[in-house]
Amino acid sequence: MYKIAVIPGDGTGPEVINEGLKVLKAVSQKVRFKYETVHYDLGGERYKRTGETLSDVLLEELRSTDAIYLGAIGHPEVKPGILEKGILLKIRFGLDQYVNLRPVKLYPGVETPLKDKGPDDIDFVVVRENTEGLYVGSGGFIKRGTSDEIAIQESINTRKGVERCVRYAYKLCEKRGKRKKLTLCGKTNVLTYAHDLWQRVFDEVGKEYPGIATDYAHVDAICMWMVKNPEWFDVIVTDNMFGDIITDLGAIIQGGMGIAAGGNINPEGTSMFEPIGGSAPKYTGKNMVNPLAAIAACQMMLEHLGEEEAALLVERAIMKVVAHDLKSLSAGKMGYTTTEVGDLVVNYMRG
Ligand code: IPM
Ligand code: MN
Repeated sequence: MYKIAVIPGDGTGPEVINEGLKVLKAVSQKVRFKYETVHYDLGGERYKRTGETLSDVLLEELRSTDAIYLGAIGHPEVKPGILEKGILLKIRFGLDQYVNLRPVKLYPGVETPLKDKGPDDIDFVVVRENTEGLYVGSGGFIKRGTSDEIAIQESINTRKGVERCVRYAYKLCEKRGKRKKLTLCGKTNVLTYAHDLWQRVFDEVGKEYPGIATDYAHVDAICMWMVKNPEWFDVIVTDNMFGDIITDLGAIIQGGMGIAAGGNINPEGTSMFEPIGGSAPKYTGKNMVNPLAAIAACQMMLEHLGEEEAALLVERAIMKVVAHDLKSLSAGKMGYTTTEVGDLVVNYMRG
């Protein structure tokens, strides 16, 4: 019996999570596993009503679950940073979800903006460090609001934090068994302390994985290669900020926010799964956005829970929907509503 925390969140989050839950229910009946869900009302509306983001008590509750299924966090009437730091990052950091796993896979039938590239060329995973770097909030202001103002925001990179992330990437690369190549993405030519540490750890841990070929690319160059030669990549490991940036690029080459999903992984604790796209306020309540990213996040959650067969069934159904039914993956252009896309996935799974 799995205990799954559900945080639908803001904007279109609840709409897409509903479809994911519909798929979860259907697949659980098909392959026979049991789960219970606990819903948490967190996000912008709640914050506006009560001033609360995520309390320590709720965080502890989340820790006791088997997985967290998240829609989206972000509200146009709340100042940027409050909900992100108070909810999303609080969970990532608080539950020590030290890897942000973002598969970039182009399914047959999905349009990519990359000319002459197809599903054989675009199939890699980004392992983004998820608890350190520029995201820790180390720094501050001096003389804020004056002409002498100083703003400092430091990137924190610990030996332990880098090593566990890099090791996770090597292991994943081995498990995938595809091109067996791990690329470190950094900026060793400028960040000569932080990314020197990354490079040394990468090389050292690599000695434990003689079967994995290693490669290095600066973050600026990798943006170029991901567009020009995405087929070079198998697994990419990188720090928090660079990972944030390159995975939006990854999302668009796999078909966009309608399909891109990610997992915030603590291999020893509670992990959280979410569509990468935001809360899309302008589409809220319109039954127009694509729920496939949320359904793909559900698929990742199933895989993480060890329900491999269920995960595979969901992925196959997603692949059928994009190959046979949807006109486009973009909101309002799919040829179907949000709920209809969820139904299509469920029908293929039953069929
Ligand atoms: C993401 C998002 C978040 C991040 C924001 C909402 C804080 O962009 O999950 O990639 O920067 O990590
Ligand atoms: Mn991002």
